[in-house]
Amino acid sequence: MPKSPSHNNWILFPNSPNTETYRFSTPHLYRRTVYQVNAALYTFSAFSYTTSVVLSPSRPLDTVFQLMKVRGKNYRAVWMEGRDVVVINQPLLPHRFGLLRLKNHRETAHAIKTMIIRGAGTIGATAAYGMAQAWLEGVDLNRAYRTILETRPTAADLKHALDRVRARASSAKEAVAEAEAIADEYVARAKRIAEVGLPLIKSGSRILTHCNAGWLALVDWGSAPAPIYLAHRRGRKVFVWVDETRPRNQGANLTSWEFLQEGVPHKIIADNAGGFYMQRGEVDLCIVGADRIAANGDVANKIGTYQKAVLACENGIPFYVAAPSSTIDWKCPSGAGIPIEERDEDEVHYISGKTTGARLERIRISPAKSRAGNPAFDVTPAKYITGIITEQGIMKPGELRKRFRK
Ligand code: MRU
Repeated sequence: MPKSPSHNNWILFPNSPNTETYRFSTPHLYRRTVYQVNAALYTFSAFSYTTSVVLSPSRPLDTVFQLMKVRGKNYRAVWMEGRDVVVINQPLLPHRFGLLRLKNHRETAHAIKTMIIRGAGTIGATAAYGMAQAWLEGVDLNRAYRTILETRPTAADLKHALDRVRARASSAKEAVAEAEAIADEYVARAKRIAEVGLPLIKSGSRILTHCNAGWLALVDWGSAPAPIYLAHRRGRKVFVWVDETRPRNQGANLTSWEFLQEGVPHKIIADNAGGFYMQRGEVDLCIVGADRIAANGDVANKIGTYQKAVLACENGIPFYVAAPSSTIDWKCPSGAGIPIEERDEDEVHYISGKTTGARLERIRISPAKSRAGNPAFDVTPAKYITGIITEQGIMKPGELRKRFRK
C-alpha cells in the first residue's frame, strides 16, 4: 500500500480515477483541525497519485431504498466494513470525491466533530457505528458514549442513536446489528418523507432550501430535498434556489453537488439573496431540514434558517421543515431549551475552494485581528412553520404531540 511521501499519517487505499480512501494511523491527527486535514489531503493530491476505488462493503448497497449515486454508482454517506466505519469525506466535495476509513470509535468521533461527516441523520448513524466500534474494541462503553455524544451538541439524532445502541445491545455483534438497523431506518424514513412531501411539489414549483439536508446528511435520500428528488424523477418540472449557507457553505458545496448528480435544475444564491427572490414572486415554497425539533414544534436548523422563515412569512410563502421523527426531542418543551453549538471562529475567517489553477486552497477573508462569532444553528419559532414533514405525514408544529401520541 503506497504512502504519501510527506504525510505518513495518511494511507492511500486502492482507488478509482475519481475516488480516494484514506485512514488515520497516528493519534496526533486528532489534534488537527479539519482544515489541516484537508490541507494534508490537498497537498497529497499534488503528488498526482492516480487511484481507483474498490467499494466492497460487508453487505450489498443496491437495495431498493438506495438513491445516492456518484457517477452511476450507489453509495451511502456512511457504512461499516468489518471493524471500520467508512464515510464520504464531505469537506473534499464538490471538487473531489473521497472516502475516509475510520479505524476506531475515537477516529469516528473526531470525524463527526470536525464535520468530515455531518448532517443530522448521518451523524446519528455514524455515532451508532462508533458505539459498535467501541464494543468491538472492548473499551469502556460509558466513556466512548460520552466521547461521541460531546461531538455535536445540537443534533438530536446523535443522542437518539447512541441511546438505542446502549439500550439494545449486550454484545458487539448486537451493537453492529443495531447500528445497521438505525442506518437502514434513516433510509426508509427518508424515502417515506419523499412520498409524504411529494404532493407539495407541483410541476413548475420553485423551491428554496438552506444548508444540506440531502443524501449526505441523512444516510441516503435526505429530508428536505427528498420530495424534490422524487418529483424530479416522476418527471415534474422543478427548480431549486440553493442558499450557499455560510460559513461552511454546505449549500454551495454539497446540495448543489447532489442536485448535479441527480440532474435537478438549481441555482446557488448568496445567503442574503433569498428575500430578493421571494419579493419578486420567484419562490413558491421553502423546505429545510432540522437538527432538533422541540415538542412544541420550534425547530433548530442551520444558522440562517430563522431569517428565511421570517422572510417567507412576510412574503406569504409556505415554509416547511422535513425531518425523521427521531429528530424530535420530546424532552425539550420549546426551542429555548435547545443547546446551540458554537463552532471555531476560523470557520468564519477562512474559506476553502479551488483556485483557477485547480489547486484546492484555504484562504483568510477577514482582517487577522478581527474576532468572529460562529453559532452553528438558530431556532425558528413554530409560528413561522407551515408544516413539518415526517415519515408519519405532514403536520402543523402544534400537532406533534397529538399525532405522535406523546
Ligand atoms: O452542521 P451540519 O452541516 O451538520 O448541519 C446540518 C443542517 O443543519 C441541515 O440543514 C439539516 O437540515 C439537518 S441534516 C438532515
